[in-house]
Amino acid sequence: MCGIVGYIGKSSAVDVLLDGLTSLEYRGYDSAGIAINVDGHVDLYKAKGKLQNLKLIVDKSREHIERSTIGIGHIRWATHGAPTTVNAHPHSCNCGRVAVVHNGIIETYKELREKLESEGCNFRSQTDTETVAHLVASKFAQTQDLTEAVRLATLEIEGAYALCVIHQDVKNTIVATRRNAPLIIGIGQGEHYVASDVPAIIQYTKKALYLDDNQIATLTPDTLDIIDINNNPVVQKVEVLPWEPVALSKMGYKHYMLKEIHEQPDVVRNVLSGKLKAIDEQINLSEVTLDREKIRGLNRIQIVACGTSLHAAMVGKYLIEQFCEIAVDVEASSEYIYRKTITDENTLVIGVSQSGETADTITAVRLAKKKGSHILIVTNRPDSTMAREADSLVPVNAGIEVSVAATKSFMAQLLSFYLLAIYMAEIKGLMKKEELEKIKHELIVLPQKLEEILTNTEDIKACARKFSSFKDFVFIARGINFPTALEGALKLKEISYINATGYSAGELKHGPIAMLDETMPVLAILMSGTVYEKILSNAEEAKARNARMIAITDSTDEKLGNIFECIIRVPHIDELLSPIAAIIPLQLLAYYIAEFLGKDVDQPRNLAKSVTVE
Ligand code: M6R
Repeated sequence: MCGIVGYIGKSSAVDVLLDGLTSLEYRGYDSAGIAINVDGHVDLYKAKGKLQNLKLIVDKSREHIERSTIGIGHIRWATHGAPTTVNAHPHSCNCGRVAVVHNGIIETYKELREKLESEGCNFRSQTDTETVAHLVASKFAQTQDLTEAVRLATLEIEGAYALCVIHQDVKNTIVATRRNAPLIIGIGQGEHYVASDVPAIIQYTKKALYLDDNQIATLTPDTLDIIDINNNPVVQKVEVLPWEPVALSKMGYKHYMLKEIHEQPDVVRNVLSGKLKAIDEQINLSEVTLDREKIRGLNRIQIVACGTSLHAAMVGKYLIEQFCEIAVDVEASSEYIYRKTITDENTLVIGVSQSGETADTITAVRLAKKKGSHILIVTNRPDSTMAREADSLVPVNAGIEVSVAATKSFMAQLLSFYLLAIYMAEIKGLMKKEELEKIKHELIVLPQKLEEILTNTEDIKACARKFSSFKDFVFIARGINFPTALEGALKLKEISYINATGYSAGELKHGPIAMLDETMPVLAILMSGTVYEKILSNAEEAKARNARMIAITDSTDEKLGNIFECIIRVPHIDELLSPIAAIIPLQLLAYYIAEFLGKDVDQPRNLAKSVTVE
């Protein structure tokens, strides 16, 4: 949930660290810091708030620190201790010789802190991380070997961590290690990089390796040695990263979120490419290794996910049940892991995650794996921890998503579920050829329909302007669009901080209707199909309570103007595909409302893109 970066080589470290932290800002942004070894002295620079504050502080000492070619940096999303300068990383020990940056949570920090305090360590912060700094310093005092000190320290700590450590007396070395938190090492010419994620290093090198859990890497400018926790040497495969730095530019859009919303037609093309070639050809999902016989015999699927990915999973349930006649349970990973789940080798467990690093979902799939279930991961990061746990992988190919609010990755996850559901239906031989061809045709023509929505945004902007001063919203839908309502409400909450709740429209009259009056707008997702008339009646009930009404619809019915004050129209689309068309105006509505309110769209308060703590 934080971002870490390290550099050792021949160039000035400070800019590599600050650039790296800039591209990791999606992981957290409540404080930041760097530690630089200048002329044999470890100097710490820290600032509360956005990275810009740190940059201003660093600039004042630039002349002094620019000559250093070794340093580590951190961008924080607070877990233990408020987002203050003192709690910002790097953390140090009594003598200030050690500097540590950490992503994750040290679960045993209270016991460790008590023990270390009794041994004379003076803690300055409220963080769990500071225990690691004192522990490494104490082990170094015993061994005079930084790698060994880190190894011994990790034997005593429990929890999740990616750590980078430097020591004043070991001028030319960074030691890095991980357990249940991502860490990548970049390899340059006479230089090494270490980071929580690829964007921090991609502009410098495409050659990299991923550390596995409990491995410890010792980096100097010219050498990279890796050992396991038992001190055995390890050789890790060096990979070429399939990334382009250009993916990280806003390409002229004001915010990443707007750019990513507009990328969705291409995302659809990417996801379908190579998998859906023609309406009369079967879906090709070569990464699904579950054999056909097993798929035919499946009688239960569980899907685990969080946030936006959970909403995509809910659409997935609808599709798989509809197309494949297999019972599907969908559950928030954070709930799944704390109850007795009935999961076994006959259950397919699907984990859905944009980042592939969400701690709750990783724990959930690991639990299911232990019980013998086949694990299928739907992720935008085939290089992630979750992907590495997978028996089968469905990479969603949305490209890097920088904005904290997920948009194009949701689209790609939805598409992946359409492909998966059709793939399994074809194996089970349940759907008629004409039905399959109709859905496939609709999928193929989708990008044009989405482009049409994205080129006609005036109604959405007008609606956003009109409703941006309201404090509460209700979103209603039924059937396959109930998750769309939840996702639309989540987008509005996340980036505008407006209270928005998604309800199944049929549930409105069982309680929530009591809240309705002219201060609480109701947005209805009114797409053609089986539940259209029902939602219309529910909308009339809301209107009768004086609620101000908004519709997202593919209907051209003029009479809708009698109920709805704002009507946002999308092209007509088959009911089964309607979430794909309905979600775009909801993303844009949330975006424009947040924009009018002057909110920090790409980095909303209190959030982080990748939630690597449970
Ligand atoms: O990376 P994941 O898809 O596993 O992340 C899950 C949620 O944290 C994520 O979807 C979150 O809800 C986003 N901020 C949604 O915009």
